[in-house]
Amino acid sequence: MKAAVLVRTGSTDDLKKNYILEEVPLPEINENEVLIQVKAASLNHRDLWITNGKYSKIKLPVILGSDCSGIVYAKGKNADKIKEGDEVIINPGINWGNNEEFQGRDFSIFGMPENGTLAEFVKVRFEYIYKKPEHLNFSEASAIPLAGVTAYRGLFVKAGITENDRILITGIGGGVACTAFKFALGIGAKVFITSSDERKINKALNLGALSGVNYKNENWAEDLADKSQKSIDIVFDSAGGFDFSKFIQLCSNGGRIVSYGASIGDSGNINLHKLYWKQLKIFGTTMGSQNDFMRMLGFVNEFKIKPVVDSEFVLDDIHKAFQRMSNSEQFGKIIVLP
Ligand SMILES: NC(=O)c1ccc[n+]([C@@H]2O[C@H](COP(=O)([O-])OP(=O)(O)OC[C@H]3O[C@@H](n4cnc5c(N)ncnc54)[C@H](OP(=O)(O)O)[C@@H]3O)[C@@H](O)[C@H]2O)c1
Repeated sequence: MKAAVLVRTGSTDDLKKNYILEEVPLPEINENEVLIQVKAASLNHRDLWITNGKYSKIKLPVILGSDCSGIVYAKGKNADKIKEGDEVIINPGINWGNNEEFQGRDFSIFGMPENGTLAEFVKVRFEYIYKKPEHLNFSEASAIPLAGVTAYRGLFVKAGITENDRILITGIGGGVACTAFKFALGIGAKVFITSSDERKINKALNLGALSGVNYKNENWAEDLADKSQKSIDIVFDSAGGFDFSKFIQLCSNGGRIVSYGASIGDSGNINLHKLYWKQLKIFGTTMGSQNDFMRMLGFVNEFKIKPVVDSEFVLDDIHKAFQRMSNSEQFGKIIVLP
């Protein structure tokens, strides 16, 4: 089968040297595994962090990719609820553990250390395989798993979002941000957004955001406070950095801040007086349990949620797909077709 094999890590300028498109043996499955013919895979920022060597315990060579949709090609005998020909997606959160509150020590994310989905076929343990939502095509379905479970746990399990909430989603071009955006709109919450790009702000407004500001502007938080009438109940953020303190300013009394990443780095300037006086809650969150994944999928099916697909690249152009993510050009999920 054809696969994009990451053979070395390094800067995005060297993507053609980092990735080798080559024929590798078809994965052999055991009695608990299923072989999926990949119809579409989607990129996550994790794949870029690893490609750039900015991730812990990198194992090379490896086929990256945590997300895919596809067709069951073969199955082990214990996968008795799965049939060859089934259209499926996978939950990339492996071995969550017994505590719903947090992942256990054995938790791992599919697609490194074991081989992932940027290939024509992938093998997955049967308990991580779920039916593809029927209202989604293969590209849309491949956009759901990692971003979907992260957004769902952050918004619903942690922040307890309802239709009455006014939420700020930062960096709306991001795959998780866009997915959270569709989830929040799906339940009727009022959504405000930030982005570095005016075109992305306009796209979000066209999709139903109430208002948006450019976080590159020094006064973005003041602008957003004006536009939201100083009323934000939830902030959903993966950038962190110095701007994190502004979320505390922006939140109304009793507000909730959800952090699912720190792309920019730590925040060293949190205003603790405002934090306690406003009775705010800050939640950290990472992906989700099997229960979170199942509930997320139930939500996607019930509300007929469609993720935002930014672009599609063939596997041979994997370096172009990563270049697009590295340049932050995307609005939504970047798809790779084998
Ligand atoms: N904890 C978890 O389980 C989990 C799961 C998934 C992702 N993550 C983390 O979340 C982050 C995003 O992941 P992703 O897959 O959605 O990545 P992505 O699709 O590459 O999105 C990255 C986006 O971040 C936004 N951004 C960059 N700098 C920003 C800033 N200073 N303020 C606000 N937004 C900024 C940009 O939005 P604009 O283009 O609109 O400017 C960019 O498009 C990564 O750090 C990733 O590691 C964590």
